[in-house]
Amino acid sequence: MTDSQAPVAAASLALADLAATASLAARTAALARAGDVIALRGDLGAGKTAFARAFIRARPGGADVTEVPSPTFTLVQVYDLAPAVWHFDLYRLTRADDVWELGFEEALADAILLIEWPDRLGSLLPAEHLDVELTPGSAPDSRDVRLIGTGDWVGRLDGLAGRAAISAGTVT
Ligand SMILES: Nc1ncnc2c1ncn2[C@@H]1O[C@H](COP(=O)(O)OP(=O)(O)OP(=O)(O)O)[C@@H](O)[C@H]1O
Ligand SMILES: [Mg+2]
Repeated sequence: MTDSQAPVAAASLALADLAATASLAARTAALARAGDVIALRGDLGAGKTAFARAFIRARPGGADVTEVPSPTFTLVQVYDLAPAVWHFDLYRLTRADDVWELGFEEALADAILLIEWPDRLGSLLPAEHLDVELTPGSAPDSRDVRLIGTGDWVGRLDGLAGRAAISAGTVT
């Protein structure tokens, strides 16, 4: 199957407040497994790190993680859970290839990857991933989220958004 025929499913949801974002992140965490790539998109302050924080805390053992800082300057923060969660913030990545120096290959092999600013990876972003795109909502604390699942995420999307919210098709 070529990328242009890859199955894809999408859903849009309104998140009324931070708790709603955290709840979506927890549902995502419950469905995630080793090798998964979750691309967190949206402008500065959209809520990508807030999503990642709630995701990590919702993973088994994650409640004991006291701090989930933004990896703004470290570019990656690794959480020693089972499987490990690697939280990337690639805003300051100057060349896509520099991601290999951060341990990207090891992460892809057996961890869950949360990636802020995934566009910095260009074609290095695996074709199969979940896109979580956050945009401002109508109120200061509300957000709209667009979920796009490719590959194995297509079947898992109804667990996140509800079957009624899903539209399925192929990438064109
Ligand atoms: N519904 C919501 N979802 C997510 N964050 C929210 C929401 N409502 C308010 N916020 C607040 O918005 C801010 C989002 O900041 P956050 O650091 O998560 O953004 P970011 O997308 O990671 O930005 P950056 O690109 O700078 O890393 C936080 O202060 C958070 O508390
Ligand atoms: Mg952030």
